[in-house]
Amino acid sequence: MAEFSQELKRSIDAAAELLLKAHYVVGLTGAGISVESGIRHFRGPGGLWTEYGEPPMDGYQRFLADPKGEWGKLIKREGYLKAAYESFEGAKPNPGHYALAKLEELGVLKFLITQNVDNFHRAAGNKNLAEIHGNFFLVRCIKCNSRYPQEEISLEKLPPSCPKCGGIIKIDTVMFGEPIPHDVISKCQEEVYKCDCMLSVGTSAFVYPAAGFPQIVKSRGGTLIEVDPYETALTYMCEVSLRGKSGEILPELVDCIRAKMGR
Ligand code: APR
Repeated sequence: MAEFSQELKRSIDAAAELLLKAHYVVGLTGAGISVESGIRHFRGPGGLWTEYGEPPMDGYQRFLADPKGEWGKLIKREGYLKAAYESFEGAKPNPGHYALAKLEELGVLKFLITQNVDNFHRAAGNKNLAEIHGNFFLVRCIKCNSRYPQEEISLEKLPPSCPKCGGIIKIDTVMFGEPIPHDVISKCQEEVYKCDCMLSVGTSAFVYPAAGFPQIVKSRGGTLIEVDPYETALTYMCEVSLRGKSGEILPELVDCIRAKMGR
C-alpha cells in the first residue's frame, strides 16, 4: 500500500472536490497509465522512442505507397515493433484502469478519451470511451472505415482486403501522418465541448489533436487535473497536479470521492 505525504493527500482531496463539483468530467489518458502494466511508454526515461527514435512522421504515406511492403514489416516485427509487441504479451489492466472504470460507474466520469491502443480501458470496464489512436487488436478498412478483430482477417494475401467493400485493410492503430478517423475525432470533439473538468492521466501532452483537448477545456473556463510522476506540458494550466504513479493515486482518489459521496 503506497504511503502518501500530507501534501499529496490534500491535493487528492482538492481534486476530489473539483471532480464532484463539475457537471461533465472527461478523462484523457496516455501511455503512463499502462506503465504499471508493463507496457512501454514513449518519451522520457525508458520510453520506446527514447530507445528506438521516433518513427518517420510520414508512416501513413509510406503505407499508402506500399501497403504490401509495410504489412510485411509489421508481420516481421522490425525495430521498435518487436519491443512493443513483447510488452503487450500477458499484460493486463492495473488498478489505475479499474479506478477510472469505477469513476464511470459512480457517474463522476462521463467520458474517457485514450491515446493508448492496448484495449485496457475497455477490458477494465469503461464503456463511454474513444480510442483516438486506434486499437492494437483491431484492423480497419481505409475506404469504408469498417473495423474487424485482427484474427477475423486473413493475412495470406497482402495487403488484406475489406470483406465489405474490397478496400485496403490496415492495422487500426493510427500511424504518424494519418488523419484520425472521422467517427472517432468527431466524438472526441463533441465530448470535449461538453467538458468543464478534465482529468489527464499519464500523458506528456505532446501529440495533437489529443494534446489540444485540455487547452480547449481551459479556454472555455473549465478546470484541469493531472496525474503524472513528472511535470508535463499541461502542468502550468492545471488547478491540481497529483505527482505519483496513477496505479497508486487513482484508487486513492476514488476512495476519497466515494467517502465524500457516502458510497
Ligand atoms: N503513472 C502515471 N504517469 C506515468 C507513469 C505512471 N506510472 N509512468 C510514466 N508516466 C508519465 C510520464 O511522465 C509521461 O508524462 O506518462 C507520460 C507518458 O508520456 P508519453 O510517453 O509521451 O506518452 P503519451 O503522452 O501517451 O504519447 C502520446 O505519442 O507516440 C505517440 O501514439 C503515441 O499515443 C502516443 C502519443
